[in-house]
Amino acid sequence: MVTVMTVLSVVVGILAVGFGGIVMSGGPMTGVTPPLVPEDSPTHGSPPWPVFQVVMKLHNLFAYLARVTIPPNLHVMNVATSYWQSEVLYSLTYNGILQYLVDENSLKSCADVASSLHLQEMVVCEYMKAGEHLGFLQSTDNGSNYGLTEAGKLSTGGMKDWILFINEETKDAWRAAGTESIRTGVSGFQSQFGLELFAWHNEHPDKEAQFDGAMTSLGPAAVGALLSGWSPPALSSTVCDIGSGVGTLVAEILQHYPEAKGMTLDQPSVSERATVYMEEKGLGHRAQVFGSSFFDPFPPEMATCDVFFMRFILHDWGDDDCIVILKQIKQAASGPKNGNKVKLAIMEQVTDTNAGAAMERAKSLMSINMIASCSFGARERTMEEYAQLFAAAGYSGAPKLIKLREIFSVLEVEI
Ligand SMILES: C[S@@+](CC[C@H](N)C(=O)[O-])C[C@H]1O[C@@H](n2cnc3c(N)ncnc32)[C@H](O)[C@@H]1O
Repeated sequence: MVTVMTVLSVVVGILAVGFGGIVMSGGPMTGVTPPLVPEDSPTHGSPPWPVFQVVMKLHNLFAYLARVTIPPNLHVMNVATSYWQSEVLYSLTYNGILQYLVDENSLKSCADVASSLHLQEMVVCEYMKAGEHLGFLQSTDNGSNYGLTEAGKLSTGGMKDWILFINEETKDAWRAAGTESIRTGVSGFQSQFGLELFAWHNEHPDKEAQFDGAMTSLGPAAVGALLSGWSPPALSSTVCDIGSGVGTLVAEILQHYPEAKGMTLDQPSVSERATVYMEEKGLGHRAQVFGSSFFDPFPPEMATCDVFFMRFILHDWGDDDCIVILKQIKQAASGPKNGNKVKLAIMEQVTDTNAGAAMERAKSLMSINMIASCSFGARERTMEEYAQLFAAAGYSGAPKLIKLREIFSVLEVEI
């Protein structure tokens, strides 16, 4: 009895401390309310701050309890075999099994799936059973017929390119990072493929397009949280996204701020797709697309930018390269701007922001993902490390941390 009471007291104590923390910390509600929130806006998916904070505290508590209550041998087993799980998801995606269930729009047996896709029935059935254990499929009648869960549907649509990218070239780069980069100081990707990721993608257009899709798939949740927590300096600002990919971020910002204008800059091969993307979104008249390198001087039109944005860019590069990019932005922003200060906002998985154990762990793994995938020196950074980069590039202001209802944060600095 004493033991149960003690455990309950500890749990209640933890909850009380957590709740107190939530009340005390509040939410960094910077930014103006977007004037236009389209029906399908990702901001609708962004939970209110109190809900987000309560859920994250509870998640951390449960994750902690799960961690300390699992027998150590099982924990080792789980971690050592965790790639089995991503292999199951990869196979279900790569072989079109999840997609088939979407297209057919009805429950199917694994035998039906195997026969329609010309695959081995026994293997398909085992993968689908494992897919159910992992929460991507759900079956009726004890495994006779399968349909998709919400996670399974996401894996066919928005997140498909991400699943493929992260389990194809990135996977080999991870192994090389842990076995070779750690000794040689050459990135995992370079060790494995002989070229850095972006150069290799230039030679493999299908993989480059898949990478664009992977980046786009990270967009909705990230943009929803961004638009809820950050705003451009004015409603009519020109927002310039550097290393924009196909331009999803600028497109979302323009949809929310109907008076705003945008510019995107990425490699020429990617910017061709950005032009198409902007036209498809009906934003061609408000967005200018540029194809050039962010290591070179920017197009003169970018002197009119009110805010430069970089999402998931600096974590791709070592310090010296980051400083070159930051200096190019400073150079582009140096023209007269009616006395207004131009800002830079970066969105990254800034580490050590007290985001809670689960998020800090995910950021730490993403940091290794950068070591594996990008040129040597790439990694996630702390706010202090970013501040040092800004200072080294000649930025005078101190960066402001804007926490979002996501694993990503924004750092904003005057240029
Ligand atoms: C991690 S992705 C981020 C894309 C986009 N910001 C997003 O959040 O979806 C990095 C981007 O940097 C671009 N990039 C790489 N090297 C570049 C260069 N030298 N100049 C311009 N863009 C470059 C890539 O093409 C890619 O679109």
